[in-house]
Amino acid sequence: MRKQIVAGNWKMNNDLAQTEALISDLKKYTKLSDAAIMVAPTFTNLWHAYQSLKGTNIEVIAQNMHFAKNGAYTGEISASMLKSIGVETVILGHSERREYFNETDELLAKKVDAALESGMKVIFCFGEVLADRKSGNHEKVVESQIKNALFHLQASSFFNIILAYEPVWAIGTGETASPEQAQDMHSFIRKTLSNKYGSDVAEGISILYGGSVKPNNAQEIFSKPDVDGGLIGGAALSADDFFAIVNAF
Ligand code: G3P
Repeated sequence: MRKQIVAGNWKMNNDLAQTEALISDLKKYTKLSDAAIMVAPTFTNLWHAYQSLKGTNIEVIAQNMHFAKNGAYTGEISASMLKSIGVETVILGHSERREYFNETDELLAKKVDAALESGMKVIFCFGEVLADRKSGNHEKVVESQIKNALFHLQASSFFNIILAYEPVWAIGTGETASPEQAQDMHSFIRKTLSNKYGSDVAEGISILYGGSVKPNNAQEIFSKPDVDGGLIGGAALSADDFFAIVNAF
């Protein structure tokens, strides 16, 4: 049985007081599903969030990291720094980092290697833009993103990777991919993995869907056989909405 996961990507939201308030609200909710829960605050709030949620069923994860172990990289954070405050999982390859910070597949391959070498788990994000979807190139684009950043890895590495398919045209737009579109892409991704690494990897890896997941669409999306949960943006900033999604399985 693959792991079901709901991860909240807070993006650049919540100062310390707002982080404390949201965590206090999250603690009031009961998890009624088998899904693993993760939240990704900003760097400045990671330590506080980790301390506040230690011992709960909510894992605190990071939104990004640099590939270097340390050095002259002003403004960056390394895997070892994240691990030193208890953070064991990091989101990499989010479309906003690809778009706004020019993160290429090649750079992301280096970040994935650094995270895995440090013993961290990775939530690896990928997805097509609207023009690719409209032209029917969405599978080719996603296949390329996965192959360029991940297909240098050994099969065993994939047991520390969670995939997150996030069609860029659905992120923050309220325009969600249909459950069928999500299922079709997730099934394609598993076939792509199976062709390279075999069924153990393809069937064992969790593939999350991200892109305007809300309380009113989560259950139908999560009901699809190749969807193992969600990477949640806007709805993760409300404890009520986030737990409605956690409990949508
Ligand atoms: O990483 C998750 C995020 O990109 C999805 O955002 O606001 O469409 O749920 P949102």
